[in-house]
Amino acid sequence: MRTPTSVPPDGGGAAAVVLRDVSVRLGGRSVLRHVTTTVPAGCWMTVVGANGAGKSTLLRAVMGLVAHEGSVSVHGTPSSALSPRERARRLALVPQTPVLAPGMTVGTYVLLGRMAHMGPFARESSTDLRAVTGVLQRLGATELAPRQLTTLSGGEAQRVVIARALAQHAPVLLLDEPTGSLDIGHQLEVLDLVEELRHEVGLTVLCTMHDLTLAGQYADQMLLLADGEVAAFGTPAEVLTEATLSKHYRATVRVLHDGDRLIVVPIRSRVGHCGTAHEAPADQEDT
Ligand SMILES: Nc1ncnc2c1ncn2[C@@H]1O[C@H](COP(=O)(O)OP(=O)(O)OP(=O)(O)O)[C@@H](O)[C@H]1O
Ligand SMILES: [Mg+2]
Repeated sequence: MRTPTSVPPDGGGAAAVVLRDVSVRLGGRSVLRHVTTTVPAGCWMTVVGANGAGKSTLLRAVMGLVAHEGSVSVHGTPSSALSPRERARRLALVPQTPVLAPGMTVGTYVLLGRMAHMGPFARESSTDLRAVTGVLQRLGATELAPRQLTTLSGGEAQRVVIARALAQHAPVLLLDEPTGSLDIGHQLEVLDLVEELRHEVGLTVLCTMHDLTLAGQYADQMLLLADGEVAAFGTPAEVLTEATLSKHYRATVRVLHDGDRLIVVPIRSRVGHCGTAHEAPADQEDT
């Protein structure tokens, strides 16, 4: 579990990713509107919000995968000026719904994360192979290396996609719902590894997550999107409030405090079909 970050709120002065007045239209509809935010170098920022709020679109705009108005810069360089190779050296994305091609082993797939470091027509170097084996080892996924991608379970596939992004050794990691298919043990293992890398190599993390309790434990800063706009921004304690969450998720929510941790609990509002009282069948009643 992570300890409180040592990264100062201004990221020590350096900005890893800056979005200025970013808007995106898709299918004739405005899905992201005038988003301005700065992710300081070494910071972990988590974007939350209801389904369709624009979280994946924001990450895709940073990655240069959707056309946008406004500007995105990465380490001071306008994203639009980066070649695909330069972009891949600075940004690694774990997409929400990755495409896993048939006929490829896990080892080969993770090695694709090294492409930006290989020369044209060059074979993989020992450094590339070490990066692949190292990341699979740290994710406890070494035994998956010879397996075909299409034979993996949902959670195994998600860890392999994360392995590929980490093998890329980019200083900014974009994680779109990275734990959606993982059991709680693997959720913590993956997020703890990202946190370790943040401290080891100064990784900057821009993440989306639906599990608000988990999100609050890892993020330095949270940005809540609602209908494509920034509805709240601040520390987890500032964003994860009952009033804010109930309003923007249209749900009754309790926020409990466990020491420094915030636990977000959705509260069921409707009674089930059988009513609140359980009636034991006659033959099970005490005589
Ligand atoms: N290519 C597209 N054409 C039209 N609309 C799109 C397109 N891609 C995304 N959208 C719409 O943009 C909105 C934002 O999508 P986005 O994937 O960013 O939401 P999200 O916040 O990531 O949601 P979720 O929590 O479900 O992952 C949604 O209403 C979605 O239907
Ligand atoms: Mg999404």
